[in-house]
Amino acid sequence: MLDPSVLKELAAIVGPAHLFTGPEELVVYSYDATRTASLPAAVARPATAGEVSQILLLANGQHFPVIPRGAGTGMSGGSVPVRGGLVLSFERMNRILEIDERNRMAIVEPGVITGDLQREAEARGLFYPPDPASQQFCTLGGNIAECAGGLRAVKYGVTRDYVLGLEVVLPTGEIIKTGSRTLKSVAGYDLTRLIIGSEGTLGVVTKIIVRLLPQPESVETLSAFFPDIRSAGLAVAKISAGPILPRALELIDSGALRAVETYLKEDVSRGAGAMVLAEVDGSPEATASEAGALDRACREAGAISVTRATDKREQDRIWKLRRSISPALYTIKPRKINEDIVVPPARVPDILAEVEDIAKRHGLLIVCFGHAGDGNIHTNIMLEEEERPQAELAVKEIFAAVLRMQGSISGEHGIGITKAPFLPLEAGEQALEAMKKIKRAWDPNNILNPGKIFLDNR
Ligand code: MLT
Ligand code: ZN
Repeated sequence: MLDPSVLKELAAIVGPAHLFTGPEELVVYSYDATRTASLPAAVARPATAGEVSQILLLANGQHFPVIPRGAGTGMSGGSVPVRGGLVLSFERMNRILEIDERNRMAIVEPGVITGDLQREAEARGLFYPPDPASQQFCTLGGNIAECAGGLRAVKYGVTRDYVLGLEVVLPTGEIIKTGSRTLKSVAGYDLTRLIIGSEGTLGVVTKIIVRLLPQPESVETLSAFFPDIRSAGLAVAKISAGPILPRALELIDSGALRAVETYLKEDVSRGAGAMVLAEVDGSPEATASEAGALDRACREAGAISVTRATDKREQDRIWKLRRSISPALYTIKPRKINEDIVVPPARVPDILAEVEDIAKRHGLLIVCFGHAGDGNIHTNIMLEEEERPQAELAVKEIFAAVLRMQGSISGEHGIGITKAPFLPLEAGEQALEAMKKIKRAWDPNNILNPGKIFLDNR
């Protein structure tokens, strides 16, 4: 609940048309892609950094939670208002302010859809590589909050590798700039990187400077089908250890294949046991020869068939299939626990075998797919509600295996609420306390996205 006098002040800041308190509106802003929900007391849609600053000043004085929110596509509950309070939605701060072609940079507001920036860059012969599966609806602000990765991270890296600077409103209302409009800078602590992946707990991003690359001249995509996950894993390991760095290297197991075929009503695999998707880019000569080498590597690993696509429409069709896996999994069972574990790339076959073993021991269906080229596998425990106790045990065992392999419990989805109980296992007590000290220093009243990352946030 927010006090009527607070609501009045909020309405005065953003304008009454941009403050929502109706039950239907609150429901819309209560959940994310984890399907976890908790109602906020109100939703404000600010239009400027100045408005955000006034809101945070008010929240800091009155001690109410503020939860920044992009498009709600997060996978760890980062934007779910678990302690009520005010959701700050960036739908109105959705402008691409500038594309600086000479310096290959873009300045954008946090509510810009990632796919829109990619298209605008492409129209100018430029390229914004970070490519979350949800790029058609997720926002740059959300990508920064969770340090989103995606399909092209294996060659091009993740969101943090493209952000040069930010405008950030601190929980105490100050508006600061981090980084600069340059390709390098070591002027003091790297606050840009501190904010990226901080899940809206340290500051509210109101402007973003990103780096762009030249658009690659040509792109070739391979789809390879395998009899089973082991031969597909072998192909990934062979490619990862070889001299070619594909821009995408994805693995899809049989559960994910069947689900996406049901969802899209298309038989793409003819009953294959696994699929590997790879993409290379560069000059036409280089892509043709690299695609040829990857084609051979897949066949040597036991591929049943390999097809190659240079046509954009055909490539889009293939990637649509891959991007649809996440929603498609709900055709198998009503619930899933989706993790985004990451291991050193050479350990991908080991972690796949370990997950298979865990699934068998607990009598669970665990669907695996994802960014195998960078060691980042989405393990999805599919369940009916009564299977939850076994599923929770399986999660613990998967995380233990990942940490034994010197991996991480989150490659790209963040800790949010779903992984908060497990962060101490990876970070250790002292590193965790170092993180909490930063949180306390920046947000003394714990108003920004409380209940996220750390179980107690203090
Ligand atoms: C993906 O790679 O499809 C996304 O990270 C979403 C998911 O893990 O389901
Ligand atoms: Zn992913």
